Amino acid sequence: MIPFYKHNLVNKNYLKKTLQSYYLTSGPKCEEVENILKKRFSKNFAYLTNSWTNSVISILLALKIKKGDEIIIPACTFVACANVIEMAGGKVVFADIDKKTKLMDIDDCLKKINKKTKIIMPVHLYGNLFPTYKLKKKIRKNIIVIEDSAHAFSGEYNDKKLGYYSDFLIFSFYATKSVTCGEGGAILSNNKKIMEKVRSIANNGMSKPAFKRFENNKYKPWDVVSYGFKANMSDLNASLLADQILNYEKLAKKKEKIYFTLKKKLASLNQLQFPENLKNKNRDYYLFPIGIEKKIRNKLIEYLTSKKIFVTVNFKSITKLKYYNKKYNNNNCPNSERWGEETLSLPFHAKLEVKEINEIFKQIKLFLKKNN
Ligand SMILES: Cc1ncc(COP(=O)(O)O)c(C=O)c1O
Repeated sequence: MIPFYKHNLVNKNYLKKTLQSYYLTSGPKCEEVENILKKRFSKNFAYLTNSWTNSVISILLALKIKKGDEIIIPACTFVACANVIEMAGGKVVFADIDKKTKLMDIDDCLKKINKKTKIIMPVHLYGNLFPTYKLKKKIRKNIIVIEDSAHAFSGEYNDKKLGYYSDFLIFSFYATKSVTCGEGGAILSNNKKIMEKVRSIANNGMSKPAFKRFENNKYKPWDVVSYGFKANMSDLNASLLADQILNYEKLAKKKEKIYFTLKKKLASLNQLQFPENLKNKNRDYYLFPIGIEKKIRNKLIEYLTSKKIFVTVNFKSITKLKYYNKKYNNNNCPNSERWGEETLSLPFHAKLEVKEINEIFKQIKLFLKKNN
C-alpha cells in the first residue's frame, strides 16, 4: 500500500514537558511558538488557533464584515476559503485561475473588484507562491489582503518573505500539512488593533485567556468586550510545533529531492500535465498534483486506488460544488472548472521511497497504455 501521506512525528517526545506543566490549553508553549513564528516571518504579532478556518473567521469577525461586503478568492481552492466568508456573512466572489500556474489569475481578479470589494484572499497553491506584490500594485489601498498560506510554510518572492505584502498571513497545521499538529492554524500580522480583537474573539470574547489571569501570583480580572467563539490552540498541540518549525529547512530539502525524482519520472508520460513550477526561492514542495484528460481522470483514480495507491483531488472548482453552484450560479471561471475535472494528487511526503515512486510511475504508465 502507498498511503497518500505520512507524517514525521512518530517516535517524537514533544508532549512530555507540556504534560508535566499546569497548562494543557493555551499557555506558555503557545506563546513560545508564537514568538518563533514572529521572528521567522518578521511580523509583530502571531496568534495560534485551532485551524486555518477559524483563524480567518476570527479575522473576518474582527474586521466586522457585513452583508454585501465582497471578498474575492480563486475559484479552484479548498472550500474552506469560501465557507469562512459565508460564515462571516460576506459575499464570495470567484476569480478564475491562471491556466499554467493554477494560481488566481490577477487580471480576472482585477475585473471583479468593485466598490463593495473589502478583501482579496489569494492562495499559495501546490507550493507555488501567488505574486501578491503584483496584485498590491494594482488595487485600492483600503482593500485588505489575506494570504492563504495553508500550502506554503516557506518561500520568498520578489526577495521578500511570505506575508511581506499582505495584511494577514494564515497557516494551517492540519494533519497533512508541511508543519502539523493534527489540527491547528496561525495568524501573522502587523495590525495591532485587529490582532488584539482576534485574540479576544477567538477566546469567547474574553479580555484575558486563562494563562494571563494569574501573573506574578496575582489574579487579574477579565471581562467580555464582544461576542466570540472558541478558536484558540492548546499547549498540547503547540508542543508539537516548535521543533518542526525550527528544523523546517531540513524537511523542505528532503521533500524537494523527492518531488523532483517523482516529477522527472512522470514528465516522460506526455499525457500528463503539471502546474508550472514558479521559481520562488526556498519554495515549499507541497502536494503533487497532475492533470489528465477529464474523461479518464476518475477512472485513473479508481485504478490507482485498486492498486492500493491512495490519491485524492485537490481541488474541484468551488463554483461546481452543489451549495456554491446553486447560490452563486453566475460564474465564469472556465480554467478553474476544467482543472477541477482534470486534476488528481498523488502520494507525496518526506517518507516516500524510491520503490514507491517507481510503483506509482509503473501503474500510471500501464493505465495510460490501456486507456489511450
Ligand atoms: C488552500 C487551503 N486553505 C485552507 C485550508 C483550511 O485549513 P484548516 O483545515 O486548517 O482549516 C486548507 C486545508 O486543507 C487548504 O488546503
